[in-house]
Amino acid sequence: MADSLDPISQFKDDLIVALAQESAISAQDLRSSLSVPPRDDLGDVAIACHRFAKSMGVNPNELASRFSEAAMRAECVAEAKAQGPFVNIFWDRGRLASDTIGAVRQSFNSDLPGGFVAGAEGRGRRIVIDFSSPNAARKLAFHHLRGTAIGAALARLYEARGFKVVRLNHLGDYGHNMALLLYKLSELDPDSSSTDQLPALSPQKLQELYVEANLEEQAEPERVKSAARGWLKRLSSNDRIAQQRWQMIVTSTTEALDKTYSRLDIHFDEYRGESRYFDEAIGVARSLVATGTASVDPENGSIFVPPEDGFQPIVLVNSQGISTYEGRDIAAAIERYHDFTFDRCVYLTDVGQGGRFRSFFAAMQRAGYAWAAGLSHVGFGQMRLGGRKAKTRGGDAVALDDVLDEAHQRAMDEVEGRLKSADAKVAGETSSEGVSTEGQELAQTAEQIGIGAVLFSQVRMRRTADFDFDLDEAVSFKGETAPRVQYTFARICSILAKAGVDIEAALTVDGGTDIGGEGSPVRSLLDDPLEHRVVKAIALLPTAARQALASDDPSFLADGVLAITDAWASYQTAGARERTDLRVLAEDPALRQARLELAAATAIAVRDGLAILGVECPEYM
Ligand code: ARG
Repeated sequence: MADSLDPISQFKDDLIVALAQESAISAQDLRSSLSVPPRDDLGDVAIACHRFAKSMGVNPNELASRFSEAAMRAECVAEAKAQGPFVNIFWDRGRLASDTIGAVRQSFNSDLPGGFVAGAEGRGRRIVIDFSSPNAARKLAFHHLRGTAIGAALARLYEARGFKVVRLNHLGDYGHNMALLLYKLSELDPDSSSTDQLPALSPQKLQELYVEANLEEQAEPERVKSAARGWLKRLSSNDRIAQQRWQMIVTSTTEALDKTYSRLDIHFDEYRGESRYFDEAIGVARSLVATGTASVDPENGSIFVPPEDGFQPIVLVNSQGISTYEGRDIAAAIERYHDFTFDRCVYLTDVGQGGRFRSFFAAMQRAGYAWAAGLSHVGFGQMRLGGRKAKTRGGDAVALDDVLDEAHQRAMDEVEGRLKSADAKVAGETSSEGVSTEGQELAQTAEQIGIGAVLFSQVRMRRTADFDFDLDEAVSFKGETAPRVQYTFARICSILAKAGVDIEAALTVDGGTDIGGEGSPVRSLLDDPLEHRVVKAIALLPTAARQALASDDPSFLADGVLAITDAWASYQTAGARERTDLRVLAEDPALRQARLELAAATAIAVRDGLAILGVECPEYM
């Protein structure tokens, strides 16, 4: 298989070859002059000639007409019109339809996961992705969702593009939050010297205690801080009681995390908590002192990297001789490189942490770790809940599980509502997305819709943008939402079923007897502008995947999927209303066959794009 299945790029390459024969302009320059005309009826792609004309010393309008003639010689071009200094180019619609559907079907032959959005640029390369990484002693909170959803989507995307991916959860199981909780537990059990184990506490209970401890700390900072410090000291000196309690907290936390992650179908290769680097971080700090990258504060003995070249100073070991979050991160990076020899290691956190990450990456390079050039911070914007920060002070936060339950319930209501109205109606072409009435299947569909809606809402916006989360909006069947895309898939399944096509075969294996195998000749019949729009949107999905990869931003892929959904909706709606000549289930057998092939390709593209984003497509909804 080529680097990726990418019909539009193939068309552009052919066009550029034709244009290059007409001038001495490099292929790269020609490529960068291509743009998309403002309206579909003006063409599929345009070339601006001013710049070239100037450097060649010719009249731009004249160059445009020479280019239009040259473009016509490319087989993928149906028409090229010079318009002033521009050339507007129309692709051969039938050929693009044929190549695009062919590429979608060919994607079943890829040895990479990811189907139509698979690619090979990552072959032989390894990436470590550190994402979600919440602090222990709390349930996964709603504000963790964004990093969790984006990180999981990137992990799937990298895998689909051929990378070997390691998913790590850098659990915050050390430091002040743990110390506070240990202090609070000691209050519950004043005889802290007793070696009797405390009973295991639920994450809910731990969270409550943590919130109380935070409030106490605000009221009496001196007393609580010093007590917490005492516990951290006990923990770091392997005090048995401190260790037992710490273990109880970590076990309780990870059990609860695993449940929530598996509900989201997200898995980590490993939890590697901060505690793992507690001691090692001190040795690493000393080695940075030895290379001259870090210094020891003569007054209090702390170890720090001084500010340099606009980078923030970093404290690695504090005045109590305890490693810091930053110090542990450096030790963790060294271990990761040792264990995985990654080409890249990315850290997903809110954009606010970007400065500290960039500072420690730079410090590591100064210290001589050349591979640290492969470290990068991928920041995401803030999510607000009802206009407020989703994260509240004092550690009290909205639990993610509660939001997922609510999303499930709303999806259930929606699907049940549709069921009732479908029962009431006589099934017509647009209302036959039959829902299975089996309770269990209904619950599964509601879960796919609810979870899908929530995850999609997190990746749809540009990664660094702040946004307001609105559950009603996220689970709505209207707008830029997962349920709307999922509904497109289900509608297509219902059309295929109506046509007597074996859905399983059409959407899961190469060809499927009813849907035409390699190079089916009827595809070239798809030349209506509305069909062309669907074809183009599908053909552009691999470009969207590449863009998402290059910018570590899955929202580009979400845009691509939404564009296919829009195009399909206009096409199908037109066919059901004013343009009956566009009905998918046309009378003419060849046309019907071609349109069914387009329908199946649309469903596959949408499904493969959504899968990367963590959204499943039920066949009925
Ligand atoms: N636990 C941190 C937080 O909740 C995120 C950790 C990110 N990963 C890392 N290696 N520092 O903000």
